[in-house]
Amino acid sequence: MIIGDNHGVPVDDSAVTKPTSPPLIDPVRLQALLGTARGRFDVDALVECESTSSILLERATQGAPAGSVLVADRQTAGRGRRGRSWQSSPESSLTFSVLWRFDGGVERLSGLSLAVGVAVQRALTACGAQGVKLKWPNDLLLNDAKLGGILIEMQSERKSMLAVIGIGLNLGLPVGDEGQPGFGFPVAALAQAISPLPDRHQLLAEILIALATILDRLAAGGFTALRDEWAECNAWQDRPVQLLHDGVVEKEGICRGVDVDGALLIESTLGVERCLSGDLSLRAL
Ligand code: BTN
Repeated sequence: MIIGDNHGVPVDDSAVTKPTSPPLIDPVRLQALLGTARGRFDVDALVECESTSSILLERATQGAPAGSVLVADRQTAGRGRRGRSWQSSPESSLTFSVLWRFDGGVERLSGLSLAVGVAVQRALTACGAQGVKLKWPNDLLLNDAKLGGILIEMQSERKSMLAVIGIGLNLGLPVGDEGQPGFGFPVAALAQAISPLPDRHQLLAEILIALATILDRLAAGGFTALRDEWAECNAWQDRPVQLLHDGVVEKEGICRGVDVDGALLIESTLGVERCLSGDLSLRAL
């Protein structure tokens, strides 16, 4: 692992604020916790930047290798799914992005965001968290409230696909914000699932180790091999749900997990239908 290295590539760092104190993540300390995955990640840590995913996408076009990780204490323009912003704060969030490359075309990557969810769920469970679940396509839930989000951005390269995997986790709740809705959805924090909360280096290391394993499995056998594991983590498996597009209900039925390509399966009087995009919510009975 190369610590805080930019691969000798000149980078426009106007979006990066020069630190006055060290970042909360120390890449040297993190390296020691990566075990057998140590050689696979190159971690850089910043006090503040606009968005770890935006910067990593920029670095990718300038030749940054697979396994590059950027973690920031604070993002000034964090991005979420569907053009939303992602709010986080240094003391109560873990925000980072991972650059990965896969041989072949985009068709081999269906289910990538679900696979990443499985990796993060696995890692948090290994750290002692009870009850962390997944919501299609890429939310982490705790007691039906949002614990974290995953943002996948892909670009095709000459012979491979580049993916920047952005992950935002709520470690604690901002004071006075306990259980308050965020983007119309209640918010949860990892501190509600593990007490005491593990050190953030331990958490990040566990997530990176699990990611390396799961992404290798995805690359080797596609999402099919991970489908059952995803269904076991599905917060709303066999529960009544509705699928919305821009706030409008498009489908209602019982959530039956996902297909081999990661499409959501909703069963209604019309049969089992495949859904490729949208926002899922629980339907009150
Ligand atoms: C969502 O639920 O909408 C996805 C949120 C993803 C947020 C993470 S935080 C690290 C990375 N950098 C970003 O700007 N976004 C992702």
